Amino acid sequence: MDLTKDGIEELILKALSTAVDRGQSRSGTPYLSGGELGRTLKISRTAVWKHIRVLQKRGYQIRGVPSKGYMLLEKADRLSRTHIEKTLQTRKIGSTLYLFEEIGSTNDHAMMMGEQGIPEGAVFLAESQTHGKGRLGRSWISPPGVNLYLSILFRPTFPPVQAPMMTLMSACAVVEAVKEVTGIDAGIKWPNDILIEGKKVSGILTEMSAEQDTVHHLVVGTGINVNMDTQSLPPDIQGKSTSLFHHLGRKTDRTELLCALLKSIERFYGVLNRKGPEAIVRCWKQHSNIVGKRVAVSTHRKTIEGRVEDLTPDGALMIRLNHGERVNIFSGDVEILS
Ligand code: BTN
Repeated sequence: MDLTKDGIEELILKALSTAVDRGQSRSGTPYLSGGELGRTLKISRTAVWKHIRVLQKRGYQIRGVPSKGYMLLEKADRLSRTHIEKTLQTRKIGSTLYLFEEIGSTNDHAMMMGEQGIPEGAVFLAESQTHGKGRLGRSWISPPGVNLYLSILFRPTFPPVQAPMMTLMSACAVVEAVKEVTGIDAGIKWPNDILIEGKKVSGILTEMSAEQDTVHHLVVGTGINVNMDTQSLPPDIQGKSTSLFHHLGRKTDRTELLCALLKSIERFYGVLNRKGPEAIVRCWKQHSNIVGKRVAVSTHRKTIEGRVEDLTPDGALMIRLNHGERVNIFSGDVEILS
């Protein structure tokens, strides 16, 4: 038998799963020893152990007990291409789908593939990222098997100055998809934070390759904390971040949420192309509680304080500074003061 590494891991899972059924019907033990697995697959016990470690890293909960062997505790919720393709109801977004077990950053990969003429609407999705990127040079924690990490490639015909609209329209799409699948009303904090009860559940990172008047390609990367146990986050992040699981107390089907999100993005992108930015800004304002609030905004150069008066038609934050002057801010980090 000449099996690939993945093939062996699939067979190990199948055997462990059968052993669990056997254990549940009380006709045997739910454990399989490394020796038994090795004999069936014609590999050494050490090789079995190595494959088990890989499966555990991919999110499968497998318990190893020295005198008994291995037992599959809970099958990981896996993203499968077949399941996604069956559930997806879009025409363009996701019609080309790249699914990775692990990748540096789906945004980096999508930007690179954008150079190679990959069509608009291609989706790059990963079970985990080793170098997930956030805004302002931050990182995005991307553990395997629990959340959604995806990037979508666009080839918009609008000029580069309209690119912030893609972040705003994606934020609207995330809020809509989360509401549809979980019933949760999330809000948007300018420009890209999706919050539940003041804590971040999702973030969006838009990157593009452009010249003065033309966008060559643009990538919208979205991370959603879906089934992540927030207790596993570093203490400084726990206070600021949340997950859908934390609010619902139950798991959300990631494929269902992904497909609802892609459908919603396709719809909003259509609205942006047909009706222009005003329609997106209107929707964004409905989901944002920032207009009228006092804020501190940190930009690359300085931090300013003032009251948010509005969002401009091109997506900038219109702020009345404390001494009365009005400024439009196109990028920065917002803290709501009151
Ligand atoms: C932020 O809020 O700072 C933006 C976070 C964006 C994270 C997503 S996860 C998928 C995509 N790939 C990345 O490296 N980043 C984005």
